[in-house]
Amino acid sequence: MSGFATFRQFEQAGWEKAAAEYDRRFGELTMQAAGPLLDVVGAAPGVRLLDVACGPGHVAAAAARRGSSAVGVDFSSEMVALASAQYPDLEFRLGDAEGLDCENESFDAVVMNFGMLHLAHPEDAIAEAFRVLHPGGRYAFTVWDVPEKAIGFGIILGSIQSQGNMDVPLPPGPPFFRFSDPEASKQTLMNAGFLNAQTLQISQVWKMESGDVLLESFRNAAVRTAALLHAQTPSALKKIREEVIARAEKFRRGDSIDLPMPAILTSALRPAS
Ligand SMILES: C[S@@+](CC[C@H](N)C(=O)[O-])C[C@H]1O[C@@H](n2cnc3c(N)ncnc32)[C@H](O)[C@@H]1O
Repeated sequence: MSGFATFRQFEQAGWEKAAAEYDRRFGELTMQAAGPLLDVVGAAPGVRLLDVACGPGHVAAAAARRGSSAVGVDFSSEMVALASAQYPDLEFRLGDAEGLDCENESFDAVVMNFGMLHLAHPEDAIAEAFRVLHPGGRYAFTVWDVPEKAIGFGIILGSIQSQGNMDVPLPPGPPFFRFSDPEASKQTLMNAGFLNAQTLQISQVWKMESGDVLLESFRNAAVRTAALLHAQTPSALKKIREEVIARAEKFRRGDSIDLPMPAILTSALRPAS
């Protein structure tokens, strides 16, 4: 076990707690990436697809609607229970992205929607995806674009930076935005033996009624950013809230605040032999 073992426990405990709220706050947003993700892996009738870090199960369900035989895996029992309750006809398993309990070469497609940035050892998860993919199978994952472009992150992190304290004790983990860099993502996949690594940016919009909803979404439905917010003093949090609301208002369109939240989609092919 590397030094990130504590980070893994922190993430797992966080997701057990945040599961239902995550689905309520982020579900519609992260589902916007499902179409492009399933397109690049060729999800279609007859395709055996594994959705790793499946959370509430929406991507697996979208793959099943395309006729693929989809299985979801997540290390949070609350997420697996939520996914199973929402999609009782699909199979969701408790399992670790970094050590999948799946046969070698047993899937035609493996996807991970917004999971990579939560892993203690992303390279292990990528190696596992390679192992369980059939030769010629396709892998794809999404992460958030950098905070300058994924505005919800920009507003929250910028407000903490100016009104609070970024330097609070959190379990050390891999850089949150590492895979937002297309070149770094492609290189990591190629180092793992994948071919034809490609990236594309997906436009997504997060709609909400107020900046307060943005703050509460990160406080109650995330893990690392939630811990950062929970570590602020009450007076700093009050100022952070005011700044978040003011910054978010700049994106108001009528009744709704529309925040650009683009994702970076990276995909690659396991060589045919
Ligand atoms: C941001 S959520 C994404 C959920 C879902 N894929 C979606 O599109 O909304 C991250 C998910 O990754 C899961 N996760 C994090 N680390 C994991 C690991 N090592 N193995 C399996 N699941 C993991 C969490 O439990 C959580 O459900």
